[in-house]
Amino acid sequence: MYRTNTCGELRLSDVGRDVTLAGWVQRTRKMGGMTFVDVRDRYGITQVVFDQDAPELCDAANHLGREFVVQVKGRVAERASKNPKNPTGDIEIIAKELNVLNSSEVPPFTIEDKTDGGDDLRMKYRYLDLRRPAVRKNLELRHRMAFEIRRYLDSKGFLEVETPVLIKSTPEGARDFVVPSRMNPGQFYALPQSPQTFKQLLMVSGFDRYFQIVKCFRDEDLRADRQPEFTQIDCEMSFVTQEDVLQMFEGLVKHIFKYVKDIDFTEPFPRMTWADAMKYYGSDKPDTRFGMRFVELKDLTEGSGFSVMDEAPYVGAIVAPGCASYTRKDLDKLTDFVKRPQVGAKGMMWVKYEQDGSIKSSVGKFFSDDVLRTWLERGEAKPGDLMLILAGQTMKTRKQLNELRLEMGSRLGLRNPDEFSCLWVVDFPLFEWDEETQRYYAMHHPFTAPNPEDIDMLDTDTGNVRATAYDMVVNGNELGGGSIRIHDSKLQDKMFRLLGLSEEDAQYKFGFLMNAFKYGAPPHGGLAFGFDRFVSILAGLDSIRDTIAFPKNNSGRDMMIDAPSVIDDSQLEELQIKVDLKED
Ligand code: AMO
Repeated sequence: MYRTNTCGELRLSDVGRDVTLAGWVQRTRKMGGMTFVDVRDRYGITQVVFDQDAPELCDAANHLGREFVVQVKGRVAERASKNPKNPTGDIEIIAKELNVLNSSEVPPFTIEDKTDGGDDLRMKYRYLDLRRPAVRKNLELRHRMAFEIRRYLDSKGFLEVETPVLIKSTPEGARDFVVPSRMNPGQFYALPQSPQTFKQLLMVSGFDRYFQIVKCFRDEDLRADRQPEFTQIDCEMSFVTQEDVLQMFEGLVKHIFKYVKDIDFTEPFPRMTWADAMKYYGSDKPDTRFGMRFVELKDLTEGSGFSVMDEAPYVGAIVAPGCASYTRKDLDKLTDFVKRPQVGAKGMMWVKYEQDGSIKSSVGKFFSDDVLRTWLERGEAKPGDLMLILAGQTMKTRKQLNELRLEMGSRLGLRNPDEFSCLWVVDFPLFEWDEETQRYYAMHHPFTAPNPEDIDMLDTDTGNVRATAYDMVVNGNELGGGSIRIHDSKLQDKMFRLLGLSEEDAQYKFGFLMNAFKYGAPPHGGLAFGFDRFVSILAGLDSIRDTIAFPKNNSGRDMMIDAPSVIDDSQLEELQIKVDLKED
């Protein structure tokens, strides 16, 4: 037996027992004639004492380096100076035997929660990074969540079915990763952006309730909440309405919070239409942990001769509670914030509602106090509050105001990662107009059913047709999304046409699905949660990277295995592929 116990489990009740531990050397300390060695494994850290009474043993301990792998035999004893921060901090092991199982080079960074290693270094030596408890905890949480997801969905009759990874292009709005086929020279597989078409085919096959915790691949620009390969909790159900789907998966989210975080959501999650989300928050994924909803002021700003507002089709504001005390410098900083290219506003206006009831404003020259007071009233501002105002094109300005609202929320400490606010956003538009290519794109994907009430508008008022699509939003993150699907081949065909796909194109890309729909496709719908995002939200992380054992960096590289990389000429030859890189 390598060990009788782990490094995380011995307590005062074990005092006097002879035990064997195995693990890594976290650190060694010499004090007086004694040497203390902290031994670490996945479960915790235990202090081992080497006494000067056994000089050879003590000498061996003094030669241990960081991250050496050791086996220690000894007796559990009560510690004189206890460490309440460590669960094993009441005891120590008085060593009787030390076996060095392996030595280690000095690691390139300290294996501690607060490490001295930078991001790149930690990614290169990810196997060492994963020894750090902070990172390991995220993977433990991930495991726990996957387990509870399976438990919930199994209890509701869902079957986990695997779908292929080498497939044909699936349109989810990103670029595909492609894989050349040796046996079919000149042809390529695509890696799935999601199993969307397969889960729909499983519904045609009568599987009724499907799920899969599944890898998806998207070649898109990376951000903190995006990885080129990520994991979805992908689900589909037959004979359901939107309401059935929302109920089922609200149940899943509540189950996870309850059994993983011990948080009970007793009330139904609020729902908000996409139109309201845009109007009041300027985002289809509003952070509803705090208020500061937008107020529209355009009608109250008319006729002052102030061109910035007169010429803008939209004037919107937020009220920052208790911020009337902001100095000129604070306000200049906020103005700089909205002018950053990532936000893109031209400027910012403000009205201070001072504690004594008086008013100060950057636009005081153009508007009387009485007019400014009507703005404050609309915003339900109280003395001491600060109103921040942006003006411009409606959608653009709303998005800028969203950034400003989030910034103020952060500054005011209103975005607490330990607080969770879940929301369904419903009634998304079916289409999105793209100025550049002058055509409509599916806002969700081309298989999303239009709202039955809007079907007549498909040809006449295409841009305003609502979809039966919904997103689950938690703390301003899009956690998941889905829709009721089209199950009628004629309507699906029309949808492809509206998206500018010719009949041949549609047949070439989706013939298999359209054919399947001819053989009795049941009404169906579903959704997919981003599993990595789900874990990161519950772990309170800003990025999904540390929820993934071996993630890619922002250039899509695996720094550890150094991928992607060039391949041998012989491999290329087999594939009958010649690489001819274009020069920049
Ligand atoms: P969608 O494209 O909205 O829907 O994806 C579902 C969820 O997956 C997560 N996600 C990502 N997570 C990490 N990195 C990425 N690059 C990434 N892209 C998406 C998000 C998102 O909400 N087939 C449909 C679902 C359906 O209609 O049933 C789909 O894939 O959390």
